[in-house]
Amino acid sequence: MNTNRLSNTISSALNEQIMREALAAQVYLSYGAWLKDKGYDGIANFLFRHSAEERNHMMKILEYVLERGAKVTISAIPEPGSDPDSVYDCFKKVFKQEVNNTESVYKLVKMSFDEQDWATWNFLQWFVREQVEEETLAHNLLDKIKIAGGDKANDEALYNLDKDLSTEPDHARLAQDVTVENP
Ligand code: FEO
Repeated sequence: MNTNRLSNTISSALNEQIMREALAAQVYLSYGAWLKDKGYDGIANFLFRHSAEERNHMMKILEYVLERGAKVTISAIPEPGSDPDSVYDCFKKVFKQEVNNTESVYKLVKMSFDEQDWATWNFLQWFVREQVEEETLAHNLLDKIKIAGGDKANDEALYNLDKDLSTEPDHARLAQDVTVENP
């Protein structure tokens, strides 16, 4: 008896999303390492913690695919790309990364809608809401650095921004603690 409750199209798209979340985790690790090397420990730590959050997203999808009786395929993660040119460039890249991820979540939502796979559609609503938060967070980073002077931000402004972000609350949660009701 076939206990797989996901279509091939949906399970392959969800597996691709697992890779995308893993890639996001690597991207934030690489930006964090670049920032730490430049002495911005506060911003680096903020991105390291965000990397952990991306890994939680990956685990959440992985667990869902298994729960639905489909196969998880762990594929290679592409390289995270080149280092940013500046802190401002880094924040612009963070925002772009989140917008790209939102687009990929929306494609999945549409796919599940078209297939009338309501379980997957319902599961994905958590990610739709999460992406609003993630984009807001990235947008706020851009706002902060724009106020600090954007590409022309001086050392003092960047020092204060770094200090400011070092006290940001930790958003990272363990995947098993995250539910639709309690995201
Ligand atoms: Fe998992 Fe930042 O989206």
